[in-house]
Amino acid sequence: MTATADAVTQFTVTLKIERFNPDAENPQSYWQEFQVPAEGTDRLLDALHKIKWDEDGSLSFRRSCAHGICGSDAMRINGRNRLACKTLLKDLNPDKPITVEPLKGLPVEKDLIVDMEPFFASYREIMPFLITDGTEEPTRERVQSPEQRAIFDDTTKCILCAACTASCPVFWADGQYFGPAAIVNAHRFIFDSRDEGGDQRLEILNDKEGVWRCRTTFNCTEACPRGIEVTKAIAEVKRAMLTRAF
Ligand code: SF4
Ligand code: F3S
Ligand code: FES
Repeated sequence: MTATADAVTQFTVTLKIERFNPDAENPQSYWQEFQVPAEGTDRLLDALHKIKWDEDGSLSFRRSCAHGICGSDAMRINGRNRLACKTLLKDLNPDKPITVEPLKGLPVEKDLIVDMEPFFASYREIMPFLITDGTEEPTRERVQSPEQRAIFDDTTKCILCAACTASCPVFWADGQYFGPAAIVNAHRFIFDSRDEGGDQRLEILNDKEGVWRCRTTFNCTEACPRGIEVTKAIAEVKRAMLTRAF
């Protein structure tokens, strides 16, 4: 790494990217290395952009906001799920090649793009919206105290990036498990005092592919770029299932 006079550190990184082209004659994944000039403030997403714009326009990856909000650029970076836009190159030991792979456990469509449909199918199943029994038409807003709001505050932070689900060995095993992200989003509504669909959601998660498949591995909590205590939320849903207290 070479420091420059104007205090912006400049260096060259080697990105070792797992590529896959479904349109190739014999589609198979392979590794390709790129040398990318970088600065100390660059994130992995900036390096991917430099490759795409200056070297190989066919390199495919998702991104939208570039600021950790949309959740579209989760990928496996040096063996760990992270958001490319929130990962500074200088924090990745740029003296060694940085490996970049698509999320594990979801079908690869092209290069770093995976098919998110199985992930969103589980998300839809837990009914991620406020449910009321509809018998009494409210005459004013549904009041909630700060204490009631605090119970599910952590799980409101989810950006549906799939870093947690795609780091879970139970999900890798067969892809049938609902996965931590779906449970986190169920938690967000089950513990919302204004919601009346908690029992329905718990029934859904009582499925053989539901919360009981979690083996408390904690990979999900370590992977979450929003710092959500994912495993704790799963434990709270399990407890609610036993006690029906929520
Ligand atoms: Fe991403 Fe965290 Fe939500 Fe999982 S819980 S989808 S890791 S933001
Ligand atoms: Fe998987 Fe997280 Fe449970 S990694 S096994 S969902 S604690
Ligand atoms: Fe939106 Fe990274 S591009 S979270």
